[in-house]
Amino acid sequence: MLELNIEKSWVGAVWRRSSVRSYTGAPDEEQLKRLGALCRKLSWQGVTIRLFQGPGLRSAIKGTDVYAVIVAKAGTPPETEGYMGEALVLEATAMGLGTCWLGAGFIPDIIERNVDLQSGEAVHCVISIGKANLPAFAPKRKPLEKICGMNEEQLSALGSWQKDAVLSARVAPSAINMQPWKITADSASVKIEENALLYKKYSRIDCGICMLHAAVGASGAGRTPRWKKVDDAYVLTA
Ligand SMILES: Cc1cc2nc3c(=O)[nH]c(=O)nc-3n(C[C@H](O)[C@H](O)[C@H](O)COP(=O)(O)O)c2cc1C
Repeated sequence: MLELNIEKSWVGAVWRRSSVRSYTGAPDEEQLKRLGALCRKLSWQGVTIRLFQGPGLRSAIKGTDVYAVIVAKAGTPPETEGYMGEALVLEATAMGLGTCWLGAGFIPDIIERNVDLQSGEAVHCVISIGKANLPAFAPKRKPLEKICGMNEEQLSALGSWQKDAVLSARVAPSAINMQPWKITADSASVKIEENALLYKKYSRIDCGICMLHAAVGASGAGRTPRWKKVDDAYVLTA
């Protein structure tokens, strides 16, 4: 499950990414071509990602009219939407572009018409993409101990990849920065599960985003990440 080739350039992109709502322009032709090819590559496991240029974004997003729409077939786990969408985000970041996940920042009528949504398909999120107007900055995250019950030293003691996986997971974007995940690390694995006490609407998509970050962290530590679903949690071995 969630088989995806993790690109080396995503390891650094995890640390350079932050949500961009103000852009100086759309990606150029060459960048659009690369993004389009990547959207086709990421369209599987129940998810189709399509790139558009034109109206569809709300006015909070300024300076670009390019966006990717994540279309999910009925029955697709929302985690897959997050996982595949964040792969696009990290690749765009590696290309020097800014992005922002949008659950509310798009106009559903326009998007659904553009996509020609079929019965059994749904759009929960769109990702704006363009040339960032500002350098990335690091928004606040919950303390490490709060999300995984360990500090960096304790994580390091577990093995060679768990710390990188958890630290990368911690900086994942989430709707209204809720970080609705619980992470458990041990000597063999890193487990990620939903921890959405207040706001559940996007929490499983958020978990999928967090999972891709964990896999990228493990990959950056020289491992080959593999996911398995155990009850309601996703378990990463590497
Ligand atoms: C599923 C999802 C939906 C989001 N929806 C919106 C949105 O509608 N409008 C917006 O401005 N930001 C949206 N965001 C961006 C979050 O607010 C942002 O990721 C979070 O505050 C953390 O900041 P960072 O991405 O800069 O690390 C969304 C993020 C995710 C993951």
